[in-house]
Amino acid sequence: MYEAEVGDDVFNEDPTVNEFQEFAADMLGFEAALFVLSGVMGNQLCLKTHTQPHDEVICDAESHIFYYESGSPAVLSGLQLFPVFTPDGILTPESVTPAIRPIEAYYMPRTKVLAVENTHNRRMGKVYPLEKLDKLGDFAKEKGIKFHLDGARVWNAAVKLGVEPKTITSKFDSVSCCLSKGLGAPIGSVIAGSKDFIKEAFRFRKAWGGGTRQLGILAAAGMYALKNNISRLADDHSNASMLAEEIANMPQFEINPAQVETNILIFKHNKKSPAEVISECESKGLRFSPGPIGTVRAITHLDVDKNDVIEAVKILKGI
Ligand SMILES: Cc1ncc(COP(=O)(O)O)c(C=O)c1O
Repeated sequence: MYEAEVGDDVFNEDPTVNEFQEFAADMLGFEAALFVLSGVMGNQLCLKTHTQPHDEVICDAESHIFYYESGSPAVLSGLQLFPVFTPDGILTPESVTPAIRPIEAYYMPRTKVLAVENTHNRRMGKVYPLEKLDKLGDFAKEKGIKFHLDGARVWNAAVKLGVEPKTITSKFDSVSCCLSKGLGAPIGSVIAGSKDFIKEAFRFRKAWGGGTRQLGILAAAGMYALKNNISRLADDHSNASMLAEEIANMPQFEINPAQVETNILIFKHNKKSPAEVISECESKGLRFSPGPIGTVRAITHLDVDKNDVIEAVKILKGI
């Protein structure tokens, strides 16, 4: 970051940003990419670029776009979300079909985007099986609906499946992927799509106050994250599995370790509320966040090693 060569990115003149965006586009299998300041900004820019006000976006009812993006589709893009309930966070043509508006119904919103989350935050970091993703992508195309991936943790999905990220993103019209969180960059996400799509998203990023000058400082960190911190995600996955196995052996907690596919664990205490577990753990130096209703959520990442997991287990045993 300190050594990054920089320029004014508002005029596309930052060489480090330009190099980063070409690298990320290639890695994700798209014509172009754009550095954005956060995962929310990435998702929202993609939705904005795909739609017109009054359109509708189908997403899963536990998705980040529905749960944690502050109603931004309505405010920033004049969109309505159609949340679809699924048993496991995996959307299928069958579950999505009833949510698609009939074209002739002029009094309904138009279905424009189908948004998928992979890995799935509120579903314990679940990974979409590739065949299901391909089938859903073909279905979206057949229906004339844009297919968007909230791939905040697509890198974890790629490592879990042992494939390149572009294998996962191949059917999508747009993707948003985080460089912060598990990959360790301090700030930033990247969106990718066709050249025209990214050109339009670039306009909206500026309009939303996200055009910045010597952005290369951050793009350099993003580049480092993409080049160095993906393969090590396997360690996060094995640390998460180890933690889940240990928690499963503690009678006061409930978790099914078989459900832990990547770096997210969701568990509950038999008697204590999530708030009680979180504050007791916090007072002992172990930080969790609340998960879906009644649960606690833990994440493993590059600042957490095996010894930290062992330490966490000791603390949890005393809760
Ligand atoms: C699946 C998913 N999408 C998007 C985001 C948003 O990322 P950010 O916090 O960088 O805005 C998150 C954040 O946790 C996430 O888990």
